[in-house]
Amino acid sequence: MKTLNSLAIIGTQWGDEGKGKITNYLAKKADFVVRYQGGNNAGHSIILDNKRFALHLLPSGIFYKNVCNILANGVVIDLFGLVEEINNLKKNNIKDINLLISERAHLVFPYHKEIDAIFEKAKGKNKIGTTKQGIGPAYTDKVTRIGIRVIDLFDQKYLEEKLKENIFWKNLFLKSLGINKEIDFDELLQKLLEARIIIKPFIKDTSKIIYDAILDNKKVLFEGAQGVQLCLDHGTYPFVTSSSPTASSIPLNTGIPANFINEVLGITKSYTTRVGNGVFLTEINDKIAAKIRIKGNEFGTTTGRARRIGWFDAVLIRYAKRINGITKISLTLFDVLSGIKELKIAINYSLDNKNIDCIPTLLKDLERVKVEYITLKGWDEDITNVKSFDALPENAKKYLKAIEKYGEIRIAQFSVGPKPEQTIDLEKIW
Ligand code: IMP
Repeated sequence: MKTLNSLAIIGTQWGDEGKGKITNYLAKKADFVVRYQGGNNAGHSIILDNKRFALHLLPSGIFYKNVCNILANGVVIDLFGLVEEINNLKKNNIKDINLLISERAHLVFPYHKEIDAIFEKAKGKNKIGTTKQGIGPAYTDKVTRIGIRVIDLFDQKYLEEKLKENIFWKNLFLKSLGINKEIDFDELLQKLLEARIIIKPFIKDTSKIIYDAILDNKKVLFEGAQGVQLCLDHGTYPFVTSSSPTASSIPLNTGIPANFINEVLGITKSYTTRVGNGVFLTEINDKIAAKIRIKGNEFGTTTGRARRIGWFDAVLIRYAKRINGITKISLTLFDVLSGIKELKIAINYSLDNKNIDCIPTLLKDLERVKVEYITLKGWDEDITNVKSFDALPENAKKYLKAIEKYGEIRIAQFSVGPKPEQTIDLEKIW
């Protein structure tokens, strides 16, 4: 088979690594940008022409009219949220929207959001800390085979039947919890019928389109949402999202063969963050964490929540490399680390004196995990205008070298700010 031109962009930590910025940066060269999992729990902020855009569902190539942006079958779509995002772009004079939506993608309804919030409340101190966008309940409906897909919006009789069935179960559930609130069928149906008009021109069998494009040697970029540690299967379960942000999930979630992914680029923050609950072995809660949080604007794009902060964890990167077949990384938010006297990097974990290569699967083992660190000297210089590796302060160079050594990975690119021009390519990515 000839060399294919597909590239997967994968978050190697707990999401928020800056995938939106990098996808948007690489999208200029792409023919297609494909979102393949998650929904509007994701939040990508992109700076273009000095304007900040927050995307939740739309792929990050949406600003380029020559790039075909696809929401593939594995995505769950909040129709009203999507229409809002499309309208927002139009308001900002981005009128030529080059978008395709898989007819097989499942829909997120307002009742999924309500159920998400109810479950979180019921879990009390064990709550996951979801984005409350209804992602878990929507994927639950998909798996229990009562979900409603995009294509169903255009068969009104079927839609009414399915919606009635779903609302019946949901109302029963709400009632059993003593919640005296009924979901109104007529109101929801009416809103769906209005919103479907906006998305009708975009609906296609996207599996065939992506398949043909890859065979035709087109540049196809798969944009992951969230990160490996939030993967339903390979993350820190149960404190994860309800889909798989890994490269391995792309074939299933887009309908292409497994050997159609050519390169996998990991997006890695220069330190670590997590939003929501669950294990975070290198977390810090001191003044340094507060400084990083402010400087790195570490507040959720979707929920506004303050993100938890921690040291760079090379074990996570080795794990992400193994799970996804990552060949190189793009290191983001490097400028945020200027002005910190000493920087730590986690290089190994051990459990009961034995080295382990990932976060333990059993929650009760977590307390006994020991993390081994190295400490490096920091640098004071502002690096936001740096244009090459050589122009970096010596200690910043040493930090990058340590990431490569202990993460066992090549840094192909690093970022010193949110703007596209603050991206330094160390090798050709695509
Ligand atoms: P859910 O995806 O809303 O169900 O949330 C499950 C977990 O994933 C929570 O810890 C969320 O904070 C986290 N999460 C979901 N989407 C993102 C994201 O885009 N970035 C970072 N964390 C996320």
